[in-house]
Amino acid sequence: MDLEKLSENSNFSGRTIVIPGGAGILGGEMACALVHCGANAIILDRDLSRSEALKERLKSGPGTSRLIHADVLLKESLVKTAEAIVAEFGEVYGLINAAGGNEPKATTGQERSFFDLPAEALKHVVELNLLGSILSSQVFGRIMADRGEGVIINISSMSAYRPLTRTVAYSASKAAVTNFTQWLAVHMAHEYSPNIRVNAIAPGFFHTAQNHFLLYDEKTGSLTPRGSTIIEHTPMKRFGKPEDLIGALLWLLSPGAQFVTGAVIAVDGGFSAFSGV
Ligand SMILES: NC(=O)c1ccc[n+]([C@@H]2O[C@H](COP(=O)([O-])OP(=O)(O)OC[C@H]3O[C@@H](n4cnc5c(N)ncnc54)[C@H](O)[C@@H]3O)[C@@H](O)[C@H]2O)c1
Repeated sequence: MDLEKLSENSNFSGRTIVIPGGAGILGGEMACALVHCGANAIILDRDLSRSEALKERLKSGPGTSRLIHADVLLKESLVKTAEAIVAEFGEVYGLINAAGGNEPKATTGQERSFFDLPAEALKHVVELNLLGSILSSQVFGRIMADRGEGVIINISSMSAYRPLTRTVAYSASKAAVTNFTQWLAVHMAHEYSPNIRVNAIAPGFFHTAQNHFLLYDEKTGSLTPRGSTIIEHTPMKRFGKPEDLIGALLWLLSPGAQFVTGAVIAVDGGFSAFSGV
């Protein structure tokens, strides 16, 4: 191995990396890390209203950033955004599909049984996690295919390995994201270039806006029984912190992972390894 090249593994100077959902907790942390490593981090999100603090953090790195309003479920909006990005930066090296999540109406519980979950809510969760990742990969993957180089990273979940209770549409859609990751890895290598890699990160349990209602009791502020069960089943005995994902992210984006495609990397404090006994 050319050891001189080791330092390239965390140097993304001049690399343009698009992050749908990048105004969220996990995507925002990834964007900040990438700007710190010299990248042009392009955040696409349908809700930029809470991104003031993130904007400040993004200023601290040597790279650049943009926050652009876009909806991953509207392909036309993605195409227009992609054209603007290529016009300004000339390329897209990476895509991190971090737009995703669950919603209360697609979750069984005291308020709604499985039989009463509204189709609209179920459809939205499946579309957001699966279709949103597919549409973004179509639009930005085409730019990578033209260049013969690129890295796509999807965000799967612990619910993809074995479904989690209550979150029926979320679990099914994240299993589909894992399946899509493997499918696209093979397709890109076969049809376009072995230098287009597609992988996923499967985070364990991170406390963020989209799962707050499941982990903490709104009234008391203490852990719900589900939140406690998760901690008990996580050998490292804590929820993940957004920065816990950065090592895996930088590795998957870097030449250090040049022979890695179709992989799903669990970053979960040991949750998926623990049988409970
Ligand atoms: N938090 C966890 O414990 C956890 C665990 C496993 C996987 N994940 C996954 O990680 C990803 C990021 O989640 P997070 O925890 O940072 O949640 P988050 O809610 O903080 O971030 C999600 C972001 O996606 C954006 N978004 C939603 N719909 C969109 C659309 N149609 N178009 C564009 N943007 C849209 C939201 O505005 C938000 O900024 C999601 O796919 C989530 O399912 C999270």
